[in-house]
Amino acid sequence: MSTMRPRESYRPFTIAILLMIVGILVSFEVYQLREPARVAAEESRDRILATTAGRELFADNCAMCHGEQGEGVDGPPLNDSTFLHTTLDSTIFSVVGSGVPNTEMPAWNQAHGGPFTDEQIGDLVAFMRSWESTAPDRAAEAMKGDPQEGLAIYAATCTVCHGAEGQGTPLGPALNDVHRLASFDDDWYASTIADGRPAAGMPTWGTVLSPVQIRDLIALLRAWERGEKVELADPAELLQEAIHELSHGDLPAVHELLAQAADRATGELKQAIEEAAAAAESGDTGALEKALDRATELGGSSEDMGGMDMDDAGDADSGAGAMAPAPGEAEARTALADLASGNPAGAVSKLKVSLALASGPLKEAVEHALMDIEAGKADEARTVLEEALTMGEG
Ligand code: HEC
Ligand code: HEC
Repeated sequence: MSTMRPRESYRPFTIAILLMIVGILVSFEVYQLREPARVAAEESRDRILATTAGRELFADNCAMCHGEQGEGVDGPPLNDSTFLHTTLDSTIFSVVGSGVPNTEMPAWNQAHGGPFTDEQIGDLVAFMRSWESTAPDRAAEAMKGDPQEGLAIYAATCTVCHGAEGQGTPLGPALNDVHRLASFDDDWYASTIADGRPAAGMPTWGTVLSPVQIRDLIALLRAWERGEKVELADPAELLQEAIHELSHGDLPAVHELLAQAADRATGELKQAIEEAAAAAESGDTGALEKALDRATELGGSSEDMGGMDMDDAGDADSGAGAMAPAPGEAEARTALADLASGNPAGAVSKLKVSLALASGPLKEAVEHALMDIEAGKADEARTVLEEALTMGEG
């Protein structure tokens, strides 16, 4: 019995220790479970604060060059999936801090003479990082092209020869043929449009249109291939385009755009636009302007558009008492300016467009000028053009 006693007297003590150990283990377990959540909550609170501070700094200091949403204005887009996926926080931190020498991008860190502390730069990085999950892939988007943009270019540039819907005209083949579209890839179309086939009557567009514009045109062709109908938003937009083309003196383009606007308009507005289209076709700029005025009043456009453009057109008309320039004349004039400034290559690209649009004596002069330039006789090309252009004025 005596041997049992000490054991019995220790039992409560042992139990207490066991309970304590269990207690410590349990509370440690609980702590371990809670701590990451607590740290995470604190981190996300810090991140939210930093992002909010960064958003304000960005709007005040960076948006003018990089865009409110980082979409890019004069500076490059920053809200871009490729940029954000491939650039570490530390890299963005140091670029923003030290700027990019010899570019518009200033240094922002106080260490480099800028206004911000390291913490503020960190806030900016946090804000830019917050775009990452939704950032668009701008390179891929730019490669895709926009069929609506394409149609605006097409209507002003290609319809003359290929028809409003790509159905073809006596001047150029159909472009909306599904089988033909399926047999050539985008690269083929891009080079065909850019290089043209001058000998066969297809002008060279690569020197006139940008690669982005050519991609937009291809996006339009692909939409036709899929059987989609692409339309410019409404008559107002077409009217606006037409007024814009009028300010360049490109009457065939004005006519084409107005004809399309008339298709989409109804009632009195349709009538006014049709009158304008007829006036554009016959080259009667006085009547054209009146009809455009009426169409604009009839609600064929938003209030803030046109006013200035219309005045410009009016001035051009009243000034010198001249008609609007003949088709292709504006291009021939800019070509002449290129020749005068010793840039025959620039002149050639403009003359090719002029050639596609001009008719009669102007067309002949442009043909001669092109041959002269090719033969290295830029001075003779100048004389030929000067004569043709002053003849048009007299
Ligand atoms: C005056 C215009 C301007 C302002 C203001 C400006 N940037 Fe820039 N930023 C640029 C230009 C231009 C570049 C491209 C420099 C180059 O050619 O590499 C650039 C580049 C960057 C880059 C690197 C992008 C890349 O693709 O490598 C980051 C990041 C950047 N800017 C962030 C900012 C932030 C943040 C601010 C405001 C604190 C800011 N910028 C203000 C013009 C500006
Ligand atoms: C002055 C008339 C004219 C204009 C303007 C014109 N084209 Fe053409 N285009 C042609 C002619 C003619 C051909 C056929 C050339 C040939 O027979 O090889 C052609 C061929 C093409 C082809 C190749 C078609 C095929 O299936 O082989 C494409 C693509 C094309 N043009 C696109 C355009 C685009 C886009 C524009 C506007 C930017 C445009 N063209 C403006 C006259 C024109």
